[in-house]
Amino acid sequence: MSKKPAKAGGGARALKTRVKKKRGLKNSSRRWLERHLNDPYVHRAQAEGMRSRAAYKLTEIDDRHKLLFPGARVIDLGAAPGGWCQVAAERVGSTPENPLVVGIDYLGMDAVPGAIVLEMDFLDDDAPERLLETLGEAPDLVISDMAAPTTGHRQTDHLRTMHLCETAADFALSVLKPGGHFLAKTFQGGAETGLLDQLKRNFKSVHHVKPQASRAESVELYLLAKGFKGRTEADPENDG
Ligand SMILES: C[S@@+](CC[C@H](N)C(=O)[O-])C[C@H]1O[C@@H](n2cnc3c(N)ncnc32)[C@H](O)[C@@H]1O
Repeated sequence: MSKKPAKAGGGARALKTRVKKKRGLKNSSRRWLERHLNDPYVHRAQAEGMRSRAAYKLTEIDDRHKLLFPGARVIDLGAAPGGWCQVAAERVGSTPENPLVVGIDYLGMDAVPGAIVLEMDFLDDDAPERLLETLGEAPDLVISDMAAPTTGHRQTDHLRTMHLCETAADFALSVLKPGGHFLAKTFQGGAETGLLDQLKRNFKSVHHVKPQASRAESVELYLLAKGFKGRTEADPENDG
């Protein structure tokens, strides 16, 4: 998993697959398909048996920030189709006998060895309890790649994904071990000042991260909060 992907347009996998117009596809779908077929991360994921190109976003972030360590317990929010589960399970040394990674997604997915994935909505009232119960003890990491299904209306999509990010942050603050980390997908721009302030108060450092595997033209960005300071009785926000 350390091999660098060929750069689109510049390397062995320069843009070359074209999708013919007469297939009856809408222009936007044809462009998506063309981009997908020519995406070096898609080719790499297929060659390396990864479930998704998203796997390389976590790989890159972890290579740089050293979040996953052997024995760490991880909760993966929005896990399907399983790329982040694969990376996390491998890097923390999770096995079917001693699973250290628990994911959740309302979409079903094929099993990932070493990960237990709950098929349910993270926004359900009992999801937090089920996740913790399944993991067995507090997590060292809460990672979230959750994105709301796109409606085509940019502002609505943005607000819905921000809501998922904020709910994930509340969850992380109520369950993380002291010293733990929180990583979540967010979008560039928009109303996240309150969330940033909350994370800055509760973690040693907070970063915005844009891995190379995240498409440059995408507004997607990751929020990384490192070194959870722990819950104190004086901070009622973190009571869970
Ligand atoms: C970008 S994909 C995650 C890809 C994954 N990290 C990987 O590496 O394969 C986002 C996922 O978030 C899930 N999702 C969105 N909202 C959710 C919710 N409320 N509860 C559970 N899963 C959710 C979607 O079903 C989708 O599978």
